[in-house]
Amino acid sequence: MSSGPLVRVAFPAPAPFGLGEPPGGVALVTIDRPDSLNALSFAVLAQLVAALRALDAEPACRCVVLTGAGSRAFAAGADIRELADQTPESLAAGGGFDHWDELREIGLPIIAAVRGYALGGGCELALACDLIVAGEDAQFGQPEITLGVIPGAGGTQRLTRAIGKARAMEMILTGRSITAREAEAAGLVSLVVPAEETLDRALALAGRIAAMPPIAVRAAKAMVNRAFDATLTEGLADERETFFGLFASADQSEGMVAFAQKRTPIWRGR
Ligand code: COA
Repeated sequence: MSSGPLVRVAFPAPAPFGLGEPPGGVALVTIDRPDSLNALSFAVLAQLVAALRALDAEPACRCVVLTGAGSRAFAAGADIRELADQTPESLAAGGGFDHWDELREIGLPIIAAVRGYALGGGCELALACDLIVAGEDAQFGQPEITLGVIPGAGGTQRLTRAIGKARAMEMILTGRSITAREAEAAGLVSLVVPAEETLDRALALAGRIAAMPPIAVRAAKAMVNRAFDATLTEGLADERETFFGLFASADQSEGMVAFAQKRTPIWRGR
């Protein structure tokens, strides 16, 4: 197995469309195992979480684009070679799945830029991101059933919440993948774009988010995600509290003053 970096970080990210300035505050994180279709070994997951944590602690970073190296895959799943000999005990003791819990703690918005296969853990990783920009060549699927198991990194829960029980059951019980257009119709992805433009369009979207006030962006991400694990009553209460809390920020004053003065606000991130 390669001992080199399996995850690459570019901060600032390259300029979209190869033109002009890089979008301010955007980082590009690339899973770099193209020979294995970017399969998510435990080492990849560890490096990915470490990279995202470092960016999350970097005040100048405001949004992350996550992609897979090459054009064939975002990620073709957990590393089957690594899973083949596992037992219930070894999986529990190994702690490799803890990385999935650590991903949930990242406060920065993360956009998945998906070309080609997003299967199994790759689909679950895209679902764990906050938005998905899909190339027309993207395929989303949870084929674990064909390997004698089920999705184990959130697929049964997040896919069902994203596209509803009927479609999720069909995908998870048969292992059938769906195209980018089907994923768009089902509400799984934010945007479907020509395959060659996937990364540039994701970077451009990230640039728009990165230009927003960062405290409010983090609060918005947290509150939308809260909708997935709170009752409506709890979620509404948390939203109200978070909304009120933002009125202690300099960015709230600036945003509203700038609106009254008909000028562009200058965000300070406090
Ligand atoms: N884990 C480990 N290795 C993987 C992998 C995975 N999830 N997915 C692909 N690879 C490897 C293949 O073993 C192959 O390696 P090799 O060249 O050393 O033999 C390489 O990536 C290329 O894949 P290959 O199967 O030859 O490409 P393909 O175009 O014929 O098929 C897929 C592409 C995605 C349909 C096929 O690779 C596949 O079904 N992968 C597994 C998907 C899956 O079940 N994911 C859920 C895992 S829980």
